[in-house]
Amino acid sequence: MNTPSVRPRWEDLPNDVRANVQARLGSPVVEVSYPEGGFTPGLALRLRCADRSEVFLKAADLALPMASHYRAEAVVGEHLPSVIAPELWWSVESHGWIVNAFEAVLGGEPELRPGPADLPGVLDVVGSLERELTPCPAPVGEAGETLSLLAGHWERLAAAPAGPDAWRTARRAWLTEMDDRDLLVKAAAGDTLVHCDLRADNMLVDAERVRVLGGSWSGVGGCGVLRPSADPCRSQPGQSGGRARSARTGVAGGRSESREHVRGGDHRLLSWHQVHGPGGGLGAYRGRAAQAGRRWIDYRLS
Ligand SMILES: Nc1ncnc2c1ncn2[C@@H]1O[C@H](COP(=O)(O)OP(=O)(O)O)[C@@H](O)[C@H]1O
Ligand SMILES: [Mg+2]
Repeated sequence: MNTPSVRPRWEDLPNDVRANVQARLGSPVVEVSYPEGGFTPGLALRLRCADRSEVFLKAADLALPMASHYRAEAVVGEHLPSVIAPELWWSVESHGWIVNAFEAVLGGEPELRPGPADLPGVLDVVGSLERELTPCPAPVGEAGETLSLLAGHWERLAAAPAGPDAWRTARRAWLTEMDDRDLLVKAAAGDTLVHCDLRADNMLVDAERVRVLGGSWSGVGGCGVLRPSADPCRSQPGQSGGRARSARTGVAGGRSESREHVRGGDHRLLSWHQVHGPGGGLGAYRGRAAQAGRRWIDYRLS
């Protein structure tokens, strides 16, 4: 499991905000539980009320830059059908905080390993992202803008004092070809609401289906990829055929070459952050994801 940032707890919410939430819930909170996953430093918790109803809350102090992620989640969440994502029940900004209330799902992170367990459900939800979200229903920016952030990292990595390692040197031609901002933006063109951060830890599987979380990076575009799993044992290239392969190379629309550009860029971004980004739980996650990306690239080029 990923190490989450240190998140505020229920009792850390200002009294007025807690009272506002309580009033909206209409029944006293009797139990609070905290998930292990996620990477933003905002509040994320499950509340159970005296009338046995449950809700999942995400909240952030509006003074913090990451509050914009929670705002974006509220904007996108309004347009996601409940087959795709836990329903957004309400979002409110009051007393300097934003609070988003979602349907609470009793589930865990899906396994991306090929096999009968979670992968078919993951592929179903990724497929329905394109079906249900074209034309793009939400007022979001261009996915190309987000995806263009993936460009340029290979050049920076290659220019770093340590230089490229043997693995990067061996794949220099492919990595360089993929490191083109214009191609990335072109690859991202389309009219679908694209999540841009599809990973196992942004999904929840319960007894019925797999659902997608978040969406603060969403934009309008045509090309989504499933990012490499953080857990090396969950992403084993070359194990089996068609459907499993498409889960690793990314689905959700776009031509396969476009997806390769995005995938290659994603790997470079993660590699860059692995070397130059913050350490801690997030750094460790990025390191594992970059390794998974290497295995994907080896598989792709083999
Ligand atoms: N609607 C929900 N119901 C139940 N658990 C949820 C729900 N939304 C998120 N979670 C849990 O909270 C964790 C963090 O959620 P996520 O939205 O990914 O946070 P972050 O934006 O910080 O990455 C998830 O890994 C999951 O375990
Ligand atoms: Mg997340």
